[in-house]
Amino acid sequence: MAKDFHEDYYAGLKGIYFRRILKAIIKIGGLKNKRVLDFGCGKGELKKLLPNNVVGYDILPDLSDVADWRKVKFDAMVANEVFYLFSKKELENFLEELYKCNPKAELVVASAGRAS
Ligand SMILES: C[S@@+](CC[C@H](N)C(=O)[O-])C[C@H]1O[C@@H](n2cnc3c(N)ncnc32)[C@H](O)[C@@H]1O
Repeated sequence: MAKDFHEDYYAGLKGIYFRRILKAIIKIGGLKNKRVLDFGCGKGELKKLLPNNVVGYDILPDLSDVADWRKVKFDAMVANEVFYLFSKKELENFLEELYKCNPKAELVVASAGRAS
C-alpha cells in the first residue's frame, strides 16, 4: 500500500530527529535570508521553522501552498526526503526542468531513503 503523506511523521521522538535534519538543511543552505521553495513539502515542517521565506509545493494539492512550483520565485529549492520517490528518469527530467526554470537556483537535497 502507498504511504499516506498526510500522516504526522514528525510526531513523538521521530520529530526530534527529523527537525534536526531540517535545522541542518537551513544551516548548510544558508536559508534564513533566501526565498525558499520547499519541493515535496509534506505537512510544511520547514515552513514552521522559517515562516517568512518558505513557499511549500507538494504533489498533494491539499498540502501545497501553490498549484505550480514553476510560478514561484525562489533562490533555493529544498527537497528533503522526496527524490527517493523518483525513478532515475523522473529525477533527470525534473533537474533539467528546474535548470530551465531557474538556472541560478541552489538545490539542497537530503535523503535517508532509498529507491526500491
Ligand atoms: C517523505 S515526505 C517528505 C515531506 C517533507 N519534505 C519533509 O521533510 O517533511 C515526501 C513528500 O513528497 C511529496 N511528493 C512525492 N512525489 C512528488 C512529486 N513528484 N512532486 C512533488 N511532491 C512530491 C509527497 O506527497 C510527500 O508529501
